[in-house]
Amino acid sequence: MRTFLLLNGPNLNLLGTREPEKYGSATLEEIELQVQSCLSKYKINVECFQSNAEHLLIERIHSAKNEEINYILFNPAAFTHTSVALRDALLAVDIPFTEIHLTDPKSREPFRHHSFFSDIAKEVVSGLGAKGYLIAAENAAQAQIAATN
Ligand code: DQA
Repeated sequence: MRTFLLLNGPNLNLLGTREPEKYGSATLEEIELQVQSCLSKYKINVECFQSNAEHLLIERIHSAKNEEINYILFNPAAFTHTSVALRDALLAVDIPFTEIHLTDPKSREPFRHHSFFSDIAKEVVSGLGAKGYLIAAENAAQAQIAATN
């Protein structure tokens, strides 16, 4: 059975109450359950992990390699704009991933315009709110299935 890792970075544990006018009203738990339910149609198992700590996200990416995780759905949150270390971790494990954002960082403050992930991601889904996680999950599932058929 294929397994995807749904990885979320800092402050996303506060979804639902965090700036709802920007990030929406869905909680992270609701999003995780929706992604799990969406991918169960494809018989894909989903592991979920959120952390506010960069080193814990790096370690979760490292262990994904040993666990033979097939794909990572990743919202790096503020680390998008700062973390060479998370970029290097993804390159080190060589697991394909999609970069997800609820908002469109490119239409926000200039310090959000640069991403350390977009040029190495299989796909970038941004600006679609919580629905973006489901679109990213569906696209990744279909691409994985097509690659093995
Ligand atoms: C975010 C966008 C980032 O710029 C921001 O720091 C976040 C959330 C998004 O999902 O829109 O924390 O990744």
